[in-house]
Parts: sequence; C-alpha cells; structure tokens
Amino acid sequence: MKHLLTTEQLSRSEAELILDLTGRMASAVSGREIRKLPTLRGRTVVNLFYEDSTRTRTSFETAAKRLSADVVNFAAKASSVSKGESLKDTALTLQSMGADGVVIRHPASGAPQRLTEWVDGAVLNAGDGTHAHPTQALLDAYTMRERLGGIDGRTVAVVGDILHSRVARSNIWLLSKLGARVRLVGPPTLLPRAIEDWPVEISYDLDASLRDTDAIMLLRVQHERMHDAFFPTANEYARLYGLDERRLGLMPDHAIVMHPGPMNRGMEIAAAVADSPRATITEQVANGVWVRMAVLYLLLTNGEL
Ligand code: NCD
Repeated sequence: MKHLLTTEQLSRSEAELILDLTGRMASAVSGREIRKLPTLRGRTVVNLFYEDSTRTRTSFETAAKRLSADVVNFAAKASSVSKGESLKDTALTLQSMGADGVVIRHPASGAPQRLTEWVDGAVLNAGDGTHAHPTQALLDAYTMRERLGGIDGRTVAVVGDILHSRVARSNIWLLSKLGARVRLVGPPTLLPRAIEDWPVEISYDLDASLRDTDAIMLLRVQHERMHDAFFPTANEYARLYGLDERRLGLMPDHAIVMHPGPMNRGMEIAAAVADSPRATITEQVANGVWVRMAVLYLLLTNGEL
C-alpha cells in the first residue's frame, strides 16, 4: 500500500490490519506519560487543505505529531493558491521540499489521485468532493468494532444525504467488505441514482429500519453542495429522517448512534440524542487520531519499523 485514496482499494485483510494497528496505537500512547512515539522522527507530513475543516485537519496534525513527524499546515486559502496557482504547481513545490506524506482535502473528486502523479511521498485522501473519505470510514469501523464487538453480521443504517456524502461512499465499501449489512435510508432525492451495483439495501422509511439496526450513521445535510431544493423544509426533513428520542427508543438497546460531524443539531439529529450515552460522536473523534496514526505509520514506513 503506497497511498490511501479510497476504501474500495483496500482488501479485507489490509483494512483489518489498519484496524488492529489502530488498537495498538491507542494502547501504546494512552499508557505513556509522554503521549508521543518516536516512529516518524525526521519525516515531514504536509496537510494540504483546499476545503474548510476542523476535526479532520487537526486530527491528522495530532496524529502526525504523536508519531514525532514534522507537520506543515498548508491552508490553500491563505497561500498562493488564492493567486491562481494550480494543484500541479503546488504539488511540485511540496515535492521539491521533500514531503514524505501529503494529506489532501479537495473539493474535486479525484484530486488526490492526480496528486500521486506529481509527488513521490505517500498521498492520504482526507476527503475529495463527494467521492471518498477513507480515514473517516476507518475510524467509524474502528468505533463499531469497539462498541459492538465486531462488524461481521451487524446491520448498519446510513441515513440522510447520501448523494453528497463521501463519508457514506467510503463506509459502504469498507463496512460491506468487513461483512456488515449496509442499508441506505433517505428521501429518494438524496439517494444517488446509479447504485444497482453497490452492496447495499435501500429504504425510504426510517421508522421501519430501526428495529434491527446495530448502528445508525447520520449524515450532515450538506447545504453547501446543494444547488437545488432536495426536500421541502428543514422541519419536514427532521420529521421524516431526523433521529429524535422517540426513534432512538425503537432501536435495540445495544445500538449506537454515529455522526461524522459537523452536526446540524435539530435537523438530522436531535440535540438530546447527540448528547445521549448511546451516541459515539466524541469517541469517533478520539478514535480518528489513532486511525490516522496507524495509516501514517503504515504508509510512511512501509510497515518496516
Ligand atoms: C465530513 C466531511 O468533511 O466529509 N466531515 C468530517 O470529515 N468529519 C462530513 C461532512 O462534512 O458532513
């Protein structure tokens, strides 16, 4: 594995290796007085973010620093990108400076793939357009494994704005590969059209989907990617597809509630549900650091150290 661009590219055993290593990262660092490992000392990781991000960027930065790498944050808006520099020229600049790993978030699907043609270092996709967000799916899978004791045979409902969601796409491929049954739930307008080949079931009825669900993953309604009216009003959306306390009561007692963040409280998730002990939202954030440490370690050392 040289780059991490999608979860589709991962074999089941590679995905399991990353999840196992994630657990090892968590225990290696949590038990230490100094929460840092020397593994990537002397290596440079560049964070190249062309889209706003709080948790993913800081998570990658924290992960790289916990492995003792040098981290350079390159915020495209405050750089010569705002003067019209192309991705290729930015990439060639980073290449000349000798980046060992480039973490990229970009509004265009496929940008991380292009980047691999211009840099020698490992490319880690931190979200490209509506295409893929592999480390988010890996941290979701890790959270499920921790909370549910496994993924094989579990039923996961992915609910809401699937059309615009790279998180949904990456989870669909990863979770189905790991043996989960994946059900997409949402209004027909927010489900992509050509999905006959996807390993999923489809439902338009959230209430009917809750009883046998082990994990529900709520997606943010992505207003910034909507150039059309996909549903009548925010209230109507919440009434049909929002997870409130009544709906939480329809799920099995062990079932968990997930959200990648940022949340629209009161829309796809009621505030009381987001703050309930059944929600794993802050755990997902914490696990994100361990997952990104595992991935950085694997890609930047080729698993050698
Ligand atoms: C997601 C993203 O940016 O794709 N957020 C994240 O990485 N935590 C989901 C979203 O923006 O809704």
